[in-house]
Amino acid sequence: MKETLIEILIEEALEARKMAYTPYSHFQVGAALLSGNQKIYTGCNIENAAYSPSVCAERTSIFKAVTEGNKEFTAIAIVGGAEGKDPKEMLPPCGVCRQVIREFCNPETFEIILAVSKNEYRCYKLKDLLPFSFGPENLQ
Ligand code: THU
Repeated sequence: MKETLIEILIEEALEARKMAYTPYSHFQVGAALLSGNQKIYTGCNIENAAYSPSVCAERTSIFKAVTEGNKEFTAIAIVGGAEGKDPKEMLPPCGVCRQVIREFCNPETFEIILAVSKNEYRCYKLKDLLPFSFGPENLQ
C-alpha cells in the first residue's frame, strides 16, 4: 500500500479519535477504514453507562460503511491511547473487532495499520492477526 495513503488513513484515525466518548475508561481510540472505491469511513469508541453496550472504534467505522452500502474494504488504520495524551504505543484490535472485520474482508489481503503517529506504524494482514479464522464461507 502507498505510504501517502497510509499516512492519510492515520491522520483520519487521529482526527476521529478526538470524537471518542469515553467517560468510563478514559481510553480513546480512532479508526479509519478504506473501502474498495477509495472512500474513508472513520470511527471512534463510544462507551455506555451500562458498560456492555459500548462499541469499539473499528466496529463503528465498519457499521457506518455498511449502513451507507459499502461492504468491500482494503485497509483500516487504528490509533489509541489514554485520553488527553498522544498515542504511546500501537493498539492491537480486540478479538470481537477482528471477527467483525473478518466478515467483510479478505484475510490474505486486508491490511491492518497499527499506528502511534504518521511516522510510526506497522502493517499487518488480517490473516496474521486472526489466523485459521471462521468466516462466511464456513456456513456454505
Ligand atoms: N477499544 C477500541 O475502541 N478498540 C479496540 O480494539 C480495543 C478497545 C475501546 C473500548 C473501550 O471503550 C476502550 O477502548 C477501553 O477498552
